[in-house]
Amino acid sequence: MSTTTAIQEIAEATQESFTIKDLVDFSDRHYGDWRDEFHKNGCVVIKNVISPERAKYYCEKQIQWLNKFDLGFDKDDESTWTADHLPVSFKGGMYFAYGAPHENFAWEARSEPAVIEIFEKLWETKELICSFDGMNISLPRRKDLNWSPWPHCDQNPDRKGMQAVQGLLNFAPNGPKDGGLMLMKGSAKLFDEFFAQKREQYDHEDAPPPELKYMDLFLFHEKDLKWFEDRGCELIKVNMEPGDFVLWDSRTMHYACLPEGDQIRHVQYICMTPRRFATEKALELKKYCFENFMGTTHWPHCNIRPATEKPMRDGKVCPKYRTEPFEKPELNDTVLRLAGVKSY
Ligand SMILES: [Fe+2]
Repeated sequence: MSTTTAIQEIAEATQESFTIKDLVDFSDRHYGDWRDEFHKNGCVVIKNVISPERAKYYCEKQIQWLNKFDLGFDKDDESTWTADHLPVSFKGGMYFAYGAPHENFAWEARSEPAVIEIFEKLWETKELICSFDGMNISLPRRKDLNWSPWPHCDQNPDRKGMQAVQGLLNFAPNGPKDGGLMLMKGSAKLFDEFFAQKREQYDHEDAPPPELKYMDLFLFHEKDLKWFEDRGCELIKVNMEPGDFVLWDSRTMHYACLPEGDQIRHVQYICMTPRRFATEKALELKKYCFENFMGTTHWPHCNIRPATEKPMRDGKVCPKYRTEPFEKPELNDTVLRLAGVKSY
């Protein structure tokens, strides 16, 4: 049996159930802080989570990462802002391959004390595990990209309740023209009502092929946006400053826009959930992904789908394909606990 088949089998075994024991019921909570807005709207921006200086550090690390591929990319020469000079990304700037989820700076971002504190307050526990998510480096005004909106949610319609919360730590100024996150504010609460009837997924040109078995992805049709808007939801573009963090319930309809101004978009996706949500098998698979520098889905505790696909360039595996980060993470207690490798 190949390694890939073996890990896929474990992955499938961890997905037997869509329910989670000890799922938290937040319906009677009142906090007097950002959590009230989060539970009302399914999303919230938390300001100044890291300092502007720290955010600048991450921008520089991300640019250095692009340069390490030696494809001729130059941040100061717009003529090099094309696919030929960049590692292979999804949707014009999301990097999940090449060991990117395990670069030391990605782990540094996940380990920022104020980032962890957000999820500790949200889930009311200090025992958290994180996803091995990618980053987003989107160059503005790219002429070599075809893009269309792809409103989706990252929770399977068969999962009920708030089972995962996604987030991103923003590093660069992100105003109205700088692309970024679009959220259908209020849509998380209507998740069960929307899926109470049979819904067909939209066959978007960028949709992953069914054989890849993304368990927690639903792509909406254009008409579905109106369904949510008719019920009081509002599609908003999230504007952020360096160091801000945005959280959204994975049932929320969302997508990302490409930047059209002068500013490069710099983001690290970060999701954390309680360790107790994970089964032993899920933790075992997570350990395998961590030790082999593989990415996962946005889900920290289940749907640990090892990202085994290789980045493809012109129909062939990218010559710059690599299975390790350039800078491996420091294996301290925070990293090992968030990875699920070390218990609390
Ligand atoms: Fe998403």
